[in-house]
Amino acid sequence: MTVTIVGSQLGDEGKGALVDLWGGDADIVVRYQGGDNAGHTVVEDGEEYKLSLVPSGAVRDKVGVLGNGCVINPRTLFSEIDDLRERGLDPDVRLAKRAHVIMPYHRRLDNIEEEAKADSDLTVGTTGRGIGPTYEDKAGRRGIRVGDLLDPDVLRQRLEYVVPKKKALIEDVYGLEAGEECDVEALVEEYTEIGRRLREDDMAVNCGDFLAERREAGDNVMFEGAQGTLIDIDHGSYPYVTSSNPTAGGAATGTGVGPTVVGQGEVVGIVKSYLSRVGEGPMPTELKDDARDEELADFIREKGGEFGTVTGRPRRIGWLDMPMLRHAARVSGFTGIAVNHLDVLAGLDEVKVGHAYELEGDERLTMPATTERWGECEPVLKEFDTWPEVDWAAVAEEGYEAIPDAAQDYLEYLSDELDVPIYAVGVGPGREQTVHIENPFDD
Ligand code: GDP
Ligand code: IMO
Ligand code: MG
Repeated sequence: MTVTIVGSQLGDEGKGALVDLWGGDADIVVRYQGGDNAGHTVVEDGEEYKLSLVPSGAVRDKVGVLGNGCVINPRTLFSEIDDLRERGLDPDVRLAKRAHVIMPYHRRLDNIEEEAKADSDLTVGTTGRGIGPTYEDKAGRRGIRVGDLLDPDVLRQRLEYVVPKKKALIEDVYGLEAGEECDVEALVEEYTEIGRRLREDDMAVNCGDFLAERREAGDNVMFEGAQGTLIDIDHGSYPYVTSSNPTAGGAATGTGVGPTVVGQGEVVGIVKSYLSRVGEGPMPTELKDDARDEELADFIREKGGEFGTVTGRPRRIGWLDMPMLRHAARVSGFTGIAVNHLDVLAGLDEVKVGHAYELEGDERLTMPATTERWGECEPVLKEFDTWPEVDWAAVAEEGYEAIPDAAQDYLEYLSDELDVPIYAVGVGPGREQTVHIENPFDD
């Protein structure tokens, strides 16, 4: 049995919380794309963990795998593992030998390119973790893979080819000075040592084989998506995207199981009850038109703690966007959804949803394929009755029927529009602050 968790919107939908919730029934939790640009929060008994690379199953002692579709910065991985050990966890993390390695020059180039774009509308607002440049090298067939770290000769050969090109890019194209990120000898030494640690701790695996063996032995696998559908490189708001496929297809190509394996399991879209976006790009339902909108956005931002987990940036806030969710449900083939942050919308004096878009006088229910056209869309808003602040802990304990009526109407509208059932409703950040409806691991 597999369950794939996918961000339906722009990232930070609360994927970590649901991976943690249902991860209790998983044996292995596998990340299939992205790297330490992710920040997934798990709150267990008031203790908060913010995970960037270690799969969120770690809090429940599950085996974590970083699939071949991931880009891995070993420096941040090891520091995260060490931090978690200091907090009493013992994360068992395996790395796909086919996954690509984020090298120091990737991170430098990510920041240099953002800086170069700073005065244009091409700025993406990346997390600065070197994600884009690493995937570029992967596609350009000049990347360093985890498997290469295990073989010093191969590592040296690859670095001797690629590093002079990065140095030339930094110096000749951008007119800057290359530093230690382009020192081949220092890189060979540091990354050979990292390879030694990977070997010593038996962390590098053939991901597809590893998962096949574990599935044959009866293990349940959870695929933990990072980021979200609208920042997917193919299905998102290009170029304001990350460089991987957070949508469900990525779970197959990013781990080495067949698409039929992913498709025979459950694919659960994680939906935030409103929208948040960190970084640039259109957002038709953004709350920014007047002082009242801004006040509302500030209120939601503060109440929902909407500040980037990785970079601390304040997130932009908007109403739920249904054309976006219809797109997400189709691209990933959701079998169900989980709706988070219902508590954050409680007590507002208005609650709206972008039901459709208006574009050149036409009303449309889905998103246009180009980002420029998407940016021209005006939301057609639908207003809902508001719901009051209630004792959400009690609601989580009592179940769905205890959710205020107006909020139930909101949830039912969502489920009807997307034609999928709701499996869980988040009413707070903690594991126990969830209204359980159905566990996707149950038959
Ligand atoms: P992820 O990247 O999708 O895993 O999400 P993040 O962890 O970056 O951001 C979600 C934030 O909302 C975290 O601070 C969570 O602890 C918190 N959170 C998750 N679910 C809920 C919920 O239902 N209600 C509230 N108030 N907070 C939630
Ligand atoms: P999780 O997994 C929200 C955004 C960045 C930027 C764009 C590209 O926590 O939901 P990148 O560094 O990936 O090249 O940046 O994508 N972004 C995220 N936004 N949540 C994330 O991850 C994100 N990861 C990247 O802000 O706009
Ligand atoms: Mg996050």
